[in-house]
Amino acid sequence: MGRRNTNEAIMESTAFETFESNVRSYCRKYPVIFSKAKGSVLIDQSGKEYIDFLCGAGSCNYGHNNDYIKGKVVEYLMADGLLHGLDMYSIAKGEFIECLEKSILIPRGFDYKVLFPGPTGTNAVEVALKIARKVKGRSNIFALMGAFHGMSLGSLSLTTERSARDACGVALGNVTHVPHPSTMPGLDTIAYIDMLLTDDHCGVDKPAAIIVEAIQGEGGINIVSNEWLRDIRALCDKHDLLLICDEIQSGCSRTGSFFSFERAGIVPDIVVMAKSIGGIGMPCSIALVKPEYDVLLPGEHNGTFRGFQLAFVAGKAAIEYMLEHDLEAETVRKGHIVAEFLVSHLRLIDPTLMFRGLGLMWGIDFGFYPAGTAQRIRQLCFENGLILELSGREDTVVKIMPPLTIEDELLLQGLETLTKAIAETVHPIGRAPIKQNGLANQAW
Ligand SMILES: Cc1ncc(COP(=O)(O)O)c(C=O)c1O
Repeated sequence: MGRRNTNEAIMESTAFETFESNVRSYCRKYPVIFSKAKGSVLIDQSGKEYIDFLCGAGSCNYGHNNDYIKGKVVEYLMADGLLHGLDMYSIAKGEFIECLEKSILIPRGFDYKVLFPGPTGTNAVEVALKIARKVKGRSNIFALMGAFHGMSLGSLSLTTERSARDACGVALGNVTHVPHPSTMPGLDTIAYIDMLLTDDHCGVDKPAAIIVEAIQGEGGINIVSNEWLRDIRALCDKHDLLLICDEIQSGCSRTGSFFSFERAGIVPDIVVMAKSIGGIGMPCSIALVKPEYDVLLPGEHNGTFRGFQLAFVAGKAAIEYMLEHDLEAETVRKGHIVAEFLVSHLRLIDPTLMFRGLGLMWGIDFGFYPAGTAQRIRQLCFENGLILELSGREDTVVKIMPPLTIEDELLLQGLETLTKAIAETVHPIGRAPIKQNGLANQAW
């Protein structure tokens, strides 16, 4: 992208490199200092602009500094609105709950209590586990291979990425991982899970719940079919388990409907949300819990930052904005633009390249290319003004996840940059079978 004139002093990265912990990671992939962002564009301190296909890992679905949402936040701040409220009653929280119920849940026929577990996604996952274990009186949980549910101890035990698990220093237990339908195409995963729940000699403890991403984000954009979602719902009912859907990355209209499981017509027992539920990048998470499972006693789940009022103000404004601008339908429309672009352009580079996605959540799979291919593509994109991230086994899937508000021209410009980087990278090195992340091209 272009470069804006800037008269601001240039900051060096020494402060970060000297004083910030080694654990920092995104900054190593995009080693510039960002200063501003607007819509679908990130701007570094030198004024260089980057199209954003990373989108705060799904936290900025409604665009950076969205004028409507920001306006509501500024208005609230200027009126000395309560900022920190623990879990006390407040106008901002009351309005957020009412808006969520009236605009999202009731129209879908969903009857959920709204639980505020803390500011981040992992807080919501932790509380969902706590509830499921309390309701069913069982400690085991089923999770899918390739899952990412967070980095605190309970959620990390569900997350499969080896390096994250290895780093935690204790045994991660009380979880059984079952194959994702994309990991072993020949396996009937529903029959397999059914067998684990039936066979009294399988050696696996009956779980309290199964937790599912209707489309795995960090796992490599692996989509479960509508039929699979319905089958897993039925299996949960048959075996007396709770179904938890993790909508932290795939929710808030990312896949073309507010919830990514909606396409299957199922109703989970618990839904966890975070990221874009905070509207404009404000930290917020929620667990939506069927009333009969709202079993935690007052204070059994607590935390100081469960009442960040600005996130409630932004979250309500975001829902209003989403409905006003018909973002669900817009996301479906833009998803078709991505699909058509990838079909026509990737075919010319390598007709066997696999890509898959829903709405504005796509992945291109370089698992069959030599190690480092996707990393090289990410680097070339960055140099040419496009920020995107990798996911999947050994980071071999290039993710396309722009804000849902991205202009068509900018979307196409980003896709052009990406396909040029792919062509430049894959032609010289060719293919060699290495890893398999998921199934062939899927798009809805
Ligand atoms: C599906 C999913 N669940 C849970 C989380 C954890 O959220 P957080 O990083 O806010 O703790 C993430 C984060 O990327 C996610 O993608």
